[in-house]
Formats: sequence, C-alpha cells, structure tokens
Amino acid sequence: MAREKNSFTCQSCGASTGQWAGRCNACGEWNTIVEELSKNSGIAGGPSKKQAKGLTLELEALDTEVADVPRLMTDIAEFDRVTGGGLVAGSAILVGGEPGIGKSTLLLQVAAVLAKKGHRALYFSGEEATAQVRLRARRLKVTDAPVDLAAETNVANILATLEAGAPPAIVIIDSIQTVWSDNLDAAPGTVSQVRACSQHLVRYAKRSGAALLIVGHVTKDGQIAGPKVVEHMVDTVLYFEGDSGHQFRILRAVKNRFGATDEIGVFEMKNEGLAEVANPSEMFLGDRNDDSPGSAVFAGIEGSRPVLVEIQALVAASSLATPRRAVVGCDSNRLAMIIAVLSARCGLRFGAHDVYLNVAGGLRITEPAADVAIAAALISALSGIALPIDRVFFGEISLSGAVRNVGHMGARLKEARKLGFKTATMPMPVDGETPDKKMLVENLPHLSALTANILGSEGEKSLNSDGKETKNS
Ligand code: TYD
Ligand code: MG
Repeated sequence: MAREKNSFTCQSCGASTGQWAGRCNACGEWNTIVEELSKNSGIAGGPSKKQAKGLTLELEALDTEVADVPRLMTDIAEFDRVTGGGLVAGSAILVGGEPGIGKSTLLLQVAAVLAKKGHRALYFSGEEATAQVRLRARRLKVTDAPVDLAAETNVANILATLEAGAPPAIVIIDSIQTVWSDNLDAAPGTVSQVRACSQHLVRYAKRSGAALLIVGHVTKDGQIAGPKVVEHMVDTVLYFEGDSGHQFRILRAVKNRFGATDEIGVFEMKNEGLAEVANPSEMFLGDRNDDSPGSAVFAGIEGSRPVLVEIQALVAASSLATPRRAVVGCDSNRLAMIIAVLSARCGLRFGAHDVYLNVAGGLRITEPAADVAIAAALISALSGIALPIDRVFFGEISLSGAVRNVGHMGARLKEARKLGFKTATMPMPVDGETPDKKMLVENLPHLSALTANILGSEGEKSLNSDGKETKNS
C-alpha cells in the first residue's frame, strides 16, 4: 500500500511545503504552517496518477456570436450595482467580511427577493441551525419567501441535494469555512478543505447555471485560512466592510469578471435588516460639525459614483519623542507623504505634534485624489482656522508639491453642487475642459497656494506669533 503523504500548508497564503517550519517561506507569516494529511490530492479535476489520453478540443474564434449573459436582478439597487447589473447565471461570487458585519443578513435578503420572484433559492447554513436562520428571516420580515433552507456542512450532501429536485437559480453557502469534504483529513476551514470544497461547488455552478454565493470570513490578522485562496477560483469577489461602531456597511467589488470593480453599495444595518442608502454623500456628511477646524469635505469617486465624505484631522502638541500618527479610513503612508510635502514645500511643521486623521462614516478611501482634502484638513487643524463650510476639495499631490489632475472632475463638481456646496478647490483643468460652470472653482497649481489661501495673512501671523510654527520665507 502506498504511504499516505503528509503535506504542510500555510494557512495564510496556501503555499505547501514538505516539512513543518515556524515561518512560511512564501509569505513570511509565523506559525501558520499546519500539517494536512490527504488521502488523495483532494483537488477535483486534478491530474490522476495514470496519464489518460487527452481529447482533441474544438477551437473557436474570438468573434463567435455570444448571447448576452442572463442576469438575475435582485431589485436591491445597491447590490445589483456592485455585481455589475445583477447576478450572472452560472457564476460564482465570494462575499468576504469580518464576522458579524452582516453577510448572512444580506444574502438571506437577496435569496428572499429572488425566491419571491419565482426563482428557486437554496440556502445552506453551516454556522447556524435552521431555527436561527428562520428567526433572522422573521426579523427581516421575509418568512413568506419560499427559500429552501438546510443546515449542512458536508459538501457531498450539499452537492447531492443540489442535484436532486429542480435546478436552483441561486445557491448560498454560509460559510465556506464550515464546509468540509470527507476525502480530506484536514479540519474544516483549513486551506485544503476550503480550496477543495470551493472547487466542487464552483464546478457545480458552472455546470448547472446556478448563481453561487459563497460566504467567507476574514479576520483582521488573517489567522484562519482566509478566503484568499478562493479568490482566483470565483468570478466575482465582494467585500462587505464597515466598522462595528457605525450602522453603515459598504459592499465593495474587488474583482468582477462581469462588471466594473471598485463599485460600492452602501447599506445601513437597521433593526429589520439592511436598508439601502441611495444617497451616500448625504449620509457621510450627515452629522458634520460645521465650524470646527480640521474638517474638509472631499469630493471622491467610488466606482462609477461620486461620494462626498468628510475628512477630519486633529493636530495636538505631543509629549512623545516620536509623535503619533494615527489614521482611520485611509493609508497611513499617504498621510506620512502629505505631512512630508507640507513641511518640505510649504514650511509647515508637524514634528512636535501628534496627528490624527479620520474619514467620517466608516468609509475607506483609496483614491490619491483625496490628497488635497487631507492636506486642507491638516493645515486647518494645525492653524486652528476652520475651512469654509460650502467648499469641497480634491486633487492629487506630487512629491514636489504640485497638484496633479484627477479624473471625473465634472461628476465630482456636480455631486458637490447637488448637495449645496458653492466652491471647489481643485487641480488646474486639462485644456478645453470646463467641468462645471455653476460652481466657483479655485484652481491649485501648487500646494503652497492652498496653504496661503487657508492661512491668509491673518493665519500666517497667528502661526508666526506663537513662535513654534514659522512659515519658511
Ligand atoms: P450577520 O448577518 O449574522 O453577520 P455575519 O453573517 O457577517 O457574521 O449579522 C450580524 C449582526 O447584524 C448582528 O450583530 C446583529 C445585526 N443585525 C441587525 O442589527 N439587524 C438585523 O435585522 C439583523 C438580522 C442583524
Ligand atoms: Mg453569518
């Protein structure tokens, strides 16, 4: 009898080695390598021992007529937009997010809408008993939707159930970390189980034409086998994010074979489930404190949609040798760069100050176009001068301090005007472009123009008078 082969797999990146090690060579993580005993490779469709003779494939041309992919619309507009216009039949979608963020709630709502429209919807819960899911359905007031429910974790049973009965239009697996295949000795949630089970399920979806939605947990430190290994197997990867302190939840597409990425859907977690937020800008600016220094409104773009969000900065005298730089909602390297540019090119000193930066509402900003807004918030916080309340900011800053052009200027200005903003501080427009005639526009060639504008003569004096902050002359 052939000896069973042990393999050691990193639970963080999925790399596999012949022996145990304290640190994974591939990703550098410590303590992530786990021994996994496998009776066979466990990878469905993987090469078998005996090389079979292959079949000759029929090759096709690129210009072959293709029918439009049929899509299932859920009528939850925020969800449909993120999926690129509805769920594509036969596609696999991974919905990732931290525990408790609302993945099960969202998917039960999606299943209920589709079931009510006459599509067969199956919901496999591996984490909760059916009674718990029914309780949630009662809370969401969707008990009348004909969703077929089962609490099951064995992938063979799930597949057998799927094959029996009418073919489903939508299948939900909640969550992939609980599903296991008895071909593998590894515990559920390990990389090899997650990978093998996803492969079985994705193959079923492709074959049957059902839309497959897989829930995957990710933890903050990525300790358990995250759904990362599944990402390349599925057609679409959605992340459900938001922080527990806020009711707002953001569904973000990070990969989509059937639509645009970086598209976001905004929801609010209410007592009776997730409600759509049709106008996120109003929500993000909702409880803005008008006249306090350190607050700047950024006119951003998320996917295809303009979103206005408040950026808050606090600059406080530090007692530490290395002052603190704390950031919530954007990249800390970006903040470090902007502080460096402000001190090197505009003569502002942050060296003896702690700097805190926060994006209000729990949104995460990845756009470099936020640079000017962040800089404005920092200058305002440092000088104690509040920015005009009817002004928005956007533009990318280069290391020389020059303000670079960004895309979608027209859409940003239009959204700002819609919400009652009167002026925009932004880059010089490209030749021949007139973004919005009804907005008062202040074009910035260089960051020093922003500093001079905010501080004015009065501000410069006040910064000079306290002796600590002197502007370079
Ligand atoms: P859940 O969907 O179970 O999260 P996940 O599947 O991502 O782990 O949602 C969990 C949280 O949502 C829980 O803390 C309770 C809250 N919640 C509401 O506020 N309102 C509701 O209607 C529901 C169903 C849940
Ligand atoms: Mg859940």
